[in-house]
Amino acid sequence: LTVSKIRASLLDWYDENQRVLPWRKKRGSSIEPDEEDERQTFKRAYAVWVSEIMLQQTKVATVIDYYNRWMDKWPSLQHLAQATQEEVNEMWAGLGYYRRARFLLEGAKMVIGGGEFPRTVPQLLKVRGIGDYTAGAIASIAFNESVPVVDGNVVRVIARLKAISANPKESETIKSFWKLAGQLVDPCRPGDLNQALMELGATICTPTSPSCSSCPISEQCHAFSLSKNSQSVQVIDY
Ligand code: ADE
Repeated sequence: LTVSKIRASLLDWYDENQRVLPWRKKRGSSIEPDEEDERQTFKRAYAVWVSEIMLQQTKVATVIDYYNRWMDKWPSLQHLAQATQEEVNEMWAGLGYYRRARFLLEGAKMVIGGGEFPRTVPQLLKVRGIGDYTAGAIASIAFNESVPVVDGNVVRVIARLKAISANPKESETIKSFWKLAGQLVDPCRPGDLNQALMELGATICTPTSPSCSSCPISEQCHAFSLSKNSQSVQVIDY
């Protein structure tokens, strides 16, 4: 089946090539989520939450330092919930879009006040500042829920994979991509599959001049086979 081939290739590629980032589980760690201490899971959920909010409008290279400083100051959600808005703004200075920082603090207070960490997309969507993207990221990466995550990178990867020529910047198109991404999510490793798609879009399946010769799913990619069979050098430019 094509879908299982795509999943397997993406996951193998991700295992070998993922960037080492401070919010990711250490490479080579074989801890299964259900063998993990609950506390560890919540810590990861917090790490994913903070990093994904920071990454929404800011490049990975910039986020790393901000993320590390943030985690030194507030190592857990409990710590963050006790911070003041001034402290949070000061920590955020330079990242821009300060609403993100305000919502993070309000969200932390909501979750700590509620007693239980939300795990599913519908629960997560009730938290201040958590939208479809962040809810999908936390649910899949921290809680192993089989749900998709769609950002600009994922839209481009799937658009090329399926040679869809709709405008990927339109909201209707993006909605339909959530459905397509949902069909791709790996039921065993949803968080890794989602991150593999984002990572592929960020490093290989880039907007201009994608590195198709290094792509783990070029064999399954419709845009790639179209470009091979025509004189066009450029894989469809999304
Ligand atoms: N961009 C935003 N979040 C990401 C993630 N978890 N992995 C790779 N790229 C990302």
